[in-house]
Amino acid sequence: MADKEVSTRGNWNSKVGFVLAAAGSAVGLGNIWRFPTEAASNGGGAFLLIYLICCFLIGYPVMMAEIAIGRRTGKNPVGAFKALSSNKLYPLIGMWGVLCGIMILSFYTVVAGWTFSYVFEEIFFAAGMNDWATWISNTGNGWLNAIFSVAFMACTISIIRGGVSDGIERATKTLMPLLFGILLLLIGYVIMQPGSSEGLAVYLQPDFSKINANLIFAAMGQAFFSLSLGMGALITYGSYLSRKENVPQAAALVTFTDTLVAFLAGLLILPAMYLAQAKGITIFQDGQFVAGPDLIFQVLPALFHDIGGLLGAIVGVTFFALLSMAALTSTISLLEVPVSYAIDEFEVPRKRAAMLIGIGILVISLIISFNTALIGWFDYIFSAIGLPLGGILISLFVAYAWKTENAFDELELGNNNFRHSIVGKTWKIFIMIICPLVILFNLLRSF
Ligand code: PHE
Repeated sequence: MADKEVSTRGNWNSKVGFVLAAAGSAVGLGNIWRFPTEAASNGGGAFLLIYLICCFLIGYPVMMAEIAIGRRTGKNPVGAFKALSSNKLYPLIGMWGVLCGIMILSFYTVVAGWTFSYVFEEIFFAAGMNDWATWISNTGNGWLNAIFSVAFMACTISIIRGGVSDGIERATKTLMPLLFGILLLLIGYVIMQPGSSEGLAVYLQPDFSKINANLIFAAMGQAFFSLSLGMGALITYGSYLSRKENVPQAAALVTFTDTLVAFLAGLLILPAMYLAQAKGITIFQDGQFVAGPDLIFQVLPALFHDIGGLLGAIVGVTFFALLSMAALTSTISLLEVPVSYAIDEFEVPRKRAAMLIGIGILVISLIISFNTALIGWFDYIFSAIGLPLGGILISLFVAYAWKTENAFDELELGNNNFRHSIVGKTWKIFIMIICPLVILFNLLRSF
């Protein structure tokens, strides 16, 4: 029965389809905008180290749990919890996820709009229209923010209206390698500049004295945000996954890809920060990191302008265009969560659900466009706290309500004998004890 349900809801096309879509969801502004900002404000290398630990030891097990729930039930996050237990409280976990997704998408759209506007900034700059470049890249201009947010949300809605598989798979397949390539090129360029070694050292040589409760809290929140965990995005994507696929392996691939892109983004942006500072852009003051959420929008254009000429323009335009696309494959997964909820539970047709919910979220984005200080607050409540909280609840649900043995039955489709493998046994301990305890401890300690 479940199989039929899954196929009528649409499926990923190819074997790599799910991995591509999930990686497309994971790789986005979280890697290139949020990660470097968090790393820079939390002591660089120490943050990187704890972040890596959080991704592989906390994020990876939770990711497998989410995908297993999704594939077993073939449902949206709320419906999935309903399907696996008769207790009326559990679907609240899914509702919390839907709420976090909506709120994250509302500010993410504004930042994605900035990314998009910087494509034009680079074009104007290259054409020598400096006044235009300055005007269009003003992240404090509410009307501009609003216009770009509308444009970005329109793209997201139009893709979700058409269904999940085709567009995302195709877009991710070509764009991801390009993003990867351009990051490597830029890293090469930055490392060759005199003055970049300070940033490299800060990023790659962890200063263990910097590790404290706030850093661990930030690293954990970043891991959940970047891996798209804790709000059911991967329950939803897992619901379109065929029973033949190997979930532990797919999840490992997604975790690895996402972490690698974040690592590379840090390798580019932390050294580039020091180059920008030397050029008079204020990133630090008296040794304190003072740049805000527009950090990369200050640092990267300075770098592209420094490369200069046609090459600088091409690199600048390509980079911001690719980053906009990476953001789009993430906003798609964020919107798909409430949309699949409306389709499954309220039988709203997909096109109408995408339109109504997308426009509803856009209203919040417009408010944020004129009050960009809200980004930090929304991000704190719904990403840094909301997603790890969702992670605790999902772990506890799998461990003690659905039961790991049932989860193993699901995970073994496509991965024979997973429960007896080392990864499987470790997963069980992590999902039952370590993940919920560590996350809870960190959330409490940060208050
Ligand atoms: N992981 C995405 C990024 O790093 C953001 C995201 C969070 C997407 C939660 C879906 C769910 O940009």
